[in-house]
Amino acid sequence: MPITEQPTEVATAAASGASATERFHTDKSPYTAVKDTPAERVNLLAREVLDAVHATIRRHRVSYDEYNALKAWLIGVGADGEWPLFLDVWVEHVIEDVATDHRAGNKGSIEGPYYVPDSPDLGAKGTLPMRDDEAGTPLVWRGRITDTNGAPLSGKVELWHADAEGFYSQFAPGIPQWNLRGSFSTGPDGVFEITTIRPAPYMIPTDGPCGKLIAAAGWHAWRPAHLHVKVSAPGHEQLTAQLYFPGDEHNDDDIASAVKPELILDPVPQPDGSQEVRYDFTLDPERG
Ligand code: DHB
Ligand code: FE
Repeated sequence: MPITEQPTEVATAAASGASATERFHTDKSPYTAVKDTPAERVNLLAREVLDAVHATIRRHRVSYDEYNALKAWLIGVGADGEWPLFLDVWVEHVIEDVATDHRAGNKGSIEGPYYVPDSPDLGAKGTLPMRDDEAGTPLVWRGRITDTNGAPLSGKVELWHADAEGFYSQFAPGIPQWNLRGSFSTGPDGVFEITTIRPAPYMIPTDGPCGKLIAAAGWHAWRPAHLHVKVSAPGHEQLTAQLYFPGDEHNDDDIASAVKPELILDPVPQPDGSQEVRYDFTLDPERG
């Protein structure tokens, strides 16, 4: 189903998995990099991953029944489109650490499966698109984009997040296309002001193969409430990050291992029940 259609049925793992898989194929050119990767590199990485699998089988004397369970499960992950979900939850955080460990500016975090490019531009100050009766505590976030010397940058903050039930527009059914998604473009002072609502903790879909793994292993399926951002400015490395809220019980045991202390906000409750928060971004220069 095209991701822009708004079906009325309830959210299912297979439907959001199919949307996330389609989104991945739309935005990324996954095979270009592989084509240009030298055989020695592919050989090294494939060999070491397989060696690790073989060592685990020998160490724990994995049985044919367990092998067939794995086979059935892997087939199911593909059939239900859950590879983006699986990889972004259990693998991406280490990729992200390695990719950004040279940075002096902001810490980043995983992108996850639910980014959509080209969200509506709302200028330097605005309110994310939301439904008239959008549930959740109103949040006003003021911040500034600077370089690593503290100089302001004309930049862009793309923001996307779940609603107060933990659902993302374009991936869960029945939500307007750009709900809680928008882009904020700053002037040369780097300043932005964003009005939105606080998202809810997010439970990864539990009715598909990833949910079956979680249940079978006795894990939980929760991510703490979070705001996703991509922050960019010409001549600087794009920052992909997530921001979290203090006191969330899943900040310490995020299923996606994507929380860092530097990414936890400090919102201040206001007399009218809303909250205000300050959070700035520092971008590293592009590497030449
Ligand atoms: C997943 C969902 C998220 O919202 C996120 O930030 C990371 C991963 C997931 O379902 O895989
Ligand atoms: Fe998310």
